[in-house]
Amino acid sequence: MKIGIPKESFPGEKRVMATPATVNRLTQVGWEVVVESGAGVGAGHADSEYVKAGAVIVGGNPNAGPNHQTAEIDSIRTHAWWGDVDVLAKVRAPQIFPDGTSECDGMREGTLLISFLNPDLNGALMERLAARKASALAIDKIPRISRAQKVDALSAMANIAGYRAVIEAAGRFGRFFTGQMTAAGKVPPAQVLVIGAGVAGLAAIAAAKGLGGLVRAFDVRPAVADQIKSLGAEFLTVTIEETGEGQGGYAKEMSPEFIAAEMELFRKQAAQCDIVITTAMIPGKPAPKLWLADMVQRMKPGSVVVDLAAESGGNCEWTVPGEAVVRDGVTLIGYTDLPSRMAGVASDLLGGILFNLTEEMGGSSRFGIDLDNEIVRGALALSRGNKVVPPLRKPEKDSVKTPVPAGASAPQAKSGVSAVKEAGHNGARAGTGGPGPAGHGHGSHAPAPPSRMADWTMAGFGILAALAWVGLRYHGSGEAAVGEGTRVFLEHFTVFVMAIFVGWQVIWNVTPALHTPLMSVTNATSGIILVGGIIGARAHFDVSASIALLAALFATINIVGGFMVTRRMLLMFRK
Ligand code: NAI
Repeated sequence: MKIGIPKESFPGEKRVMATPATVNRLTQVGWEVVVESGAGVGAGHADSEYVKAGAVIVGGNPNAGPNHQTAEIDSIRTHAWWGDVDVLAKVRAPQIFPDGTSECDGMREGTLLISFLNPDLNGALMERLAARKASALAIDKIPRISRAQKVDALSAMANIAGYRAVIEAAGRFGRFFTGQMTAAGKVPPAQVLVIGAGVAGLAAIAAAKGLGGLVRAFDVRPAVADQIKSLGAEFLTVTIEETGEGQGGYAKEMSPEFIAAEMELFRKQAAQCDIVITTAMIPGKPAPKLWLADMVQRMKPGSVVVDLAAESGGNCEWTVPGEAVVRDGVTLIGYTDLPSRMAGVASDLLGGILFNLTEEMGGSSRFGIDLDNEIVRGALALSRGNKVVPPLRKPEKDSVKTPVPAGASAPQAKSGVSAVKEAGHNGARAGTGGPGPAGHGHGSHAPAPPSRMADWTMAGFGILAALAWVGLRYHGSGEAAVGEGTRVFLEHFTVFVMAIFVGWQVIWNVTPALHTPLMSVTNATSGIILVGGIIGARAHFDVSASIALLAALFATINIVGGFMVTRRMLLMFRK
């Protein structure tokens, strides 16, 4: 299998989808890698490094820098070699140029394109790729689920953007972040406000704290409060009680009353804060306008606002996407290429993601599109020219982001179905084409699958009925003890049934954050069961003794398992 790494043609784009380290890993597991000449220049990697790592250099202009001039674009847009690879892995979606030609014109049937694609907003390109009968996997549509963390390109880039936003702010802010007490005088610390504590926001909080700023943050999802506090920042709240928790850990649109209360809070903050970093986003919607003109005007001269949502319209009213402007003495940064400004680390991470993705898809020996694979299925936009409708995804309880409330899950379509018809899907992240709540698509009207819970309940009742039958038969068969035996059995059986239902309700409703103390409680209960089981099994061997032994066995498994988990958790805190 041959994988090709093109040089990015988008003006100013410095990232590359594979570094020499990635090439090394790919070739070691059997891939043939071709890299377009000059592809790694922007990220600091010369062609010779790629050759050393085992790649073959093709086409391109080795001297072309990231800021292409027209002539350079001309030289790299004719990618004759694109027709010679099985997989094309690039960062930005292939371009369609003003003269109507496209970078993807050289692709052959069946070649798989892996890149940021934003298929919902890139209709023209998708048609172009479909005409080539190409396949396309949009890495910005990879579902944000636990198993997909190793290939979560959006989070990797958002993390970099959050960090870089602070660095950009620090570069423009003419003062220290950290407070200082010097012989010459006292310097107060910078007051930093982060709006939206998702991936980018949390990275910004960590970076601003690291520089010594006094950081506070606001988010509509109360679930992030602990994460904000654990980074040493203050979590701001409003008086209105309303949760912004949407599906899949993303936010939902808030009521006008909540937004008004939020505005009031921000107006107060505006006069105090030196640096404001806005990252608020609701999937599939334009960025909410949260930092209004009057708030900018309230800020001290020299203050800085970095608007990460610039690409999807901006959270700040005065943001100019792609530019840094000064209004009323406040610098407003609306750069949309923050990850590219840290091309080295961004390319390292993208390279790792590319390698993990190829492994997820079977590695070089068994590489293919498996529609039963949730990660592949969620990101696949085209299969040999046919449009693929991503399945409706049930938000994971332990997703990368905060857990969703029970019952908010979206219906899940049958996997393995490739469709060429128009249908709804998970919704897109504004400007980035990422996953979102199922409610945004037509598919939200799909019938709900039969609940597995009902099956479990039926099975539970079946087992209980069987136990009752065995118990009554056993205790009811003696001569003298018929009445007494049945009474004692029914008494124990009632306690047993109550324990199951009450236990189930109690344990199921415990929030994940309290699972560790819960484990201690279940271990203590298991200890009692173990003692009871041993006492129950000590007499002659009969049905009660065997049930007691079984109980003792399960209790032992629970206790030993609990100790093993605790040990692993303790090891995580050891240096
Ligand atoms: P995310 O979905 O993880 O975080 C967004 C956060 O905003 C969520 O925690 C959400 O609860 C919060 N939010 C929504 N409405 C809010 C409101 N009214 N008030 C306060 N908080 C609110 O998204 P992620 O990955 O952190 O990305 C954040 C933004 O950064 C996105 O707009 C993304 O497109 C952008 N981005 C920009 C880059 C650049 O170069 N400028 C690069 C990468 C991402």
